[in-house]
Amino acid sequence: DWQMGSYIDEAVAKIREQVGDEEVILGLSGGVDSSVAAALIHRAIGDQLTCVFVDHGLLRLNEGQMVMDMFAGRLHAKVVHVDASAQFLGKLTGVSDPEKKRKIIGAEFVEVFQAEAKKLTNAKWLAQGTIYPDVVESGGTKTKKAITIKSHHNVGGLPETLGLKLLEPLRELFKDEVRALGVALGLPADMVYRHPFPGPGLGVRILGEIKKDYADLLRRADAIFIEELRNTIDPASGKSWYALTSQAFAVFLPVKSVGVMGDGRTYDYVVALRAVQTSDFMTADWAELPYALLKRTSGRIINEVRGINRVTYDVSSKPPATIEWE
Ligand code: XMP
Repeated sequence: DWQMGSYIDEAVAKIREQVGDEEVILGLSGGVDSSVAAALIHRAIGDQLTCVFVDHGLLRLNEGQMVMDMFAGRLHAKVVHVDASAQFLGKLTGVSDPEKKRKIIGAEFVEVFQAEAKKLTNAKWLAQGTIYPDVVESGGTKTKKAITIKSHHNVGGLPETLGLKLLEPLRELFKDEVRALGVALGLPADMVYRHPFPGPGLGVRILGEIKKDYADLLRRADAIFIEELRNTIDPASGKSWYALTSQAFAVFLPVKSVGVMGDGRTYDYVVALRAVQTSDFMTADWAELPYALLKRTSGRIINEVRGINRVTYDVSSKPPATIEWE
């Protein structure tokens, strides 16, 4: 609309004035904030922006490909795709403590990003998708995850280490404004209205030690659940169950249980489905999904994902449970 159009013009002018003819790097995570920041900065300075997309191997199904299609393919932005999955999984071998896993993923992320950034010797700026609530949060006290959230989404401490100036064009915006801006910049609504996804990704949705096989099973189960949520419309509101939930995902339990398939006995892993409704993510209710949706999802996961023979639904609210299982 007109207001958003003039907002974009102003923001673009401001970025051009700040940056001049210097080069900018940005860590693309696939999340809403870094995506919108990238699209806005690209609109302003085109090829003076280089995005660095670090794939830690703990992303959702086809996520890496989607990010590349969007930014390199559609927007024609310069994107360096770093497939660091083997490196991350190597560092995580034998580690099962949730906070240790978070720290390793966070530290490794900074390391990989930093190594890439150093190769771009002309860069003078580091761009980040910091939004207004992040600015407020980092001033206050936050619980267990605050540090990791920073090290992922807004690569804390990096500008100093790299000797770069900080460019944060979304600093004054709330989440809904960031989304509207993203749509106005031509990002697909599907991407802009995605549920939040934690920086450590599937790393905190595979309980205990992370293994590549577990991640592969989880990705497929999760994709089926999300597809069913998107395709099931609630007749009362006309909205999909994806839109009616704040966050939904599958969790991999490294536990085997007995099942039966055809004439055979199976002894395979369990997946838990989690879907919550919340306005602030500080408290959350488990979502009362229609039984038919749960039934379809569970049937599809068990039939389509060989290696999983049991699906459960998490009926715990926050508090005392957290949204993520780790
Ligand atoms: P919990 O599990 O604490 O999650 O109820 C609240 C919200 O925070 C997200 N979350 C994270 N985000 N890094 C992130 O970037 C993390 O380490 C992390 N842990 C939890 C979670 O997905 C939910 O939206």
